[in-house]
Amino acid sequence: MPATLITNIKLLVNIREENKLLRGKELANLSVIENAFLIIEHQKIAAYGAMENLVHHTETITDVIDATGQIVLPCWCDSHTHLVFATSRENEFIDKIKGKSYAEIAASGGGILNSAKKIALATEEELFDSAWQRLQELIQLGTGAIEIKSGYGLSVDAEIKMLRVIKALKQQAPIPIKATFLGAHTYPLEYKENHQGYIDLIIKQMLPIIAKENLADYIDVFCEDGFFSKEETITICKAGMQYGLKPKIHANQLNLSGGVEAGVALNAISVDHLETMDDTTIALLASSNTIGTLLPTAAYFLRMSFQPARKLIDSGCAIALASDFNPGSSPSGNMNIVTSMSCVQMKMLPEEVINAATINGAYAMELENEVGSITKGKRANLIFTKQVPSLAYLPYAFGSNLIDKVMINGKIIA
Ligand code: NIG
Ligand code: FE
Repeated sequence: MPATLITNIKLLVNIREENKLLRGKELANLSVIENAFLIIEHQKIAAYGAMENLVHHTETITDVIDATGQIVLPCWCDSHTHLVFATSRENEFIDKIKGKSYAEIAASGGGILNSAKKIALATEEELFDSAWQRLQELIQLGTGAIEIKSGYGLSVDAEIKMLRVIKALKQQAPIPIKATFLGAHTYPLEYKENHQGYIDLIIKQMLPIIAKENLADYIDVFCEDGFFSKEETITICKAGMQYGLKPKIHANQLNLSGGVEAGVALNAISVDHLETMDDTTIALLASSNTIGTLLPTAAYFLRMSFQPARKLIDSGCAIALASDFNPGSSPSGNMNIVTSMSCVQMKMLPEEVINAATINGAYAMELENEVGSITKGKRANLIFTKQVPSLAYLPYAFGSNLIDKVMINGKIIA
């Protein structure tokens, strides 16, 4: 059987014989091998170890890649994105520079509603093509698994259109994709005074089609003051759970919204954002199985306080990092920036950010058996860095492109 051998790897990072969701202190444990080899068979990691233990299977090795001076790590697992959208929103960016807040822009028909107007006009092909291009860029930046949400449709047709685009991306992309239904992203204008009407539309009309066409893995709600209340969040998530969709919730971005409480009560896979947390909410999250997914580039872009990562980790929470790529609050899906920003602004250690953006991100998409670490049998989705002095150099030297090449399923992506 043909095999690829990677030799002379300066540092092979995040070696795990067994999967484990990392919480608290465990996040700082990052197992590495210096001067390592790695063998790939059938697109998967087949073997690895120190160069001195390399047993030559020369008859099966068809390709050799010399990684002298390079660090090799598992690709980023980006567990929260809104990758499918019709147009960018740099006009709102200017409005924010001039002093408007995110909530003010949303309240005046901008924000999510602005994106929804554009989605209504776009065809499935157009949405697919632009999302595909973004995905290619992200793969080149090292993303090897991704979650994508709907939520800019806000009508039966447009939500289903978005989810069909995500399904097509899933079928054609070389990396694993998870789809999340976020019909409850905001109330469309015509339901502004009729919340129950829109919730009924989600539950009685959207969810049955989504289930029938198998269009989503997860259900999400933007649980926030001025958007969906804690009670509404629970109602919508429970309806999704009836169809087998597990919750991943937008929680505590702008306020103490009750989103974390809802997520923990529902045993959600993750509660995401968490800019606004108090001690009680942190303790609740720490005592649960729910992952706290931090989205620092959204906090940065909206000029908000960063998530209290140190407090969350020191309290024993399981933390993941994701990009939140979307046109309104994080117009970048670059996980290299996410990890660097997490070190600088949230005082996470390089080891912690790598774990949070790989293995814990994989858990936040239930992809831990496929990606997220150097483990036999997982996909060979790997980042090869340029020649760098150390692992810490990666988040330290922010803004430089330190990736030499990316391998997906054992194949180098140009
Ligand atoms: O995760 N917070 C809600 N949703 C997105 C932003 C949506 C938008 O502004 O388009 C987020 O930040
Ligand atoms: Fe988001």
